[in-house]
Amino acid sequence: MKVIVTQPVYDESLDLLRRAGVHVKRLDRPEPLGSQELAAACEGADAVMTQLTDRVDASVLAANPNLRLVANIAAGFDNIDIEAARRAGVIVTNTPGVLTDATADLAFALILAAARRIPEGDQMMRSGGYHGWRLLQQPMGMDVSGTTIGIVGMGRVGQAVARRARLGFDMTVLYTDVATVPSIEAETGARLVELPELLAASDFVSLHAPLIAQTRHLIDAEALRTMKSSAVLINTARGPLIDEHALADAIASGVIAGAGLDVFESEPQVAPALLGLRERVVLLPHVGSATVRTRRRMVDMAVANVLAHLEGRPPFNVVV
Ligand code: DGY
Repeated sequence: MKVIVTQPVYDESLDLLRRAGVHVKRLDRPEPLGSQELAAACEGADAVMTQLTDRVDASVLAANPNLRLVANIAAGFDNIDIEAARRAGVIVTNTPGVLTDATADLAFALILAAARRIPEGDQMMRSGGYHGWRLLQQPMGMDVSGTTIGIVGMGRVGQAVARRARLGFDMTVLYTDVATVPSIEAETGARLVELPELLAASDFVSLHAPLIAQTRHLIDAEALRTMKSSAVLINTARGPLIDEHALADAIASGVIAGAGLDVFESEPQVAPALLGLRERVVLLPHVGSATVRTRRRMVDMAVANVLAHLEGRPPFNVVV
């Protein structure tokens, strides 16, 4: 049995496969693989462990009829052509759950950093701009406690954000999803509403929806116009949920107050107009799950999926 590992991972996690007699081939590519390269690299492999920057399209699957499993080391799987995998009978797995808390923590870090203008205060200290406490000093922030948060997508991470918001910050929680989530409503008092109501009523809007055709540019210029002018938009899900240029325009012209973004439309690029904004705008390099414990667990989970498949058992986290 042969397994390809496209980009660097924790090597110890792979020992489980090696001990089971699997031939593990680490490509250790510092950069993500395009689909052509990936197709060639998967020659003779039974399974491939991919990362969210590797493109797995129909051509990769067609070129490798032996390939039966794509184990993505991420909760998201929009880098994989799921329909093509279904047609080819290839199993796709992901790594949900283990990154829930780390990602929800980061969403809250962005809420606090944007609202309390933490990067701006830090920059002021380092540049010698602090001349002593004043009642009317800058950077003056906005309250988080007791405000309203709108959660778009009440999956695992959305629920973890709702708990932090309600139990930690006494926030009112509104949410959108395809169905009600009674358990989180009972726990946090969260209320399911339509997106327009959520956007109009929330002080913070936090995105936790998957990237699919229906959610691409869910937050566009029109949606931004319906938000409060004091609102802050948070995205730790996928960049294309937001029209980044419309967002930059909306912040620059005061349509909304700010944003905390961990993901971008064309990573690693960021719209220059967004980079130019500093007040209440906090940008991070897709680090929602980037803690050692979480990233290690993601690799371990992907390994467990591969091993189960190679041993003839159903993998644990099957997407298709
Ligand atoms: C995921 O897993 O989908 C995150 O974006 C990266 O951890």
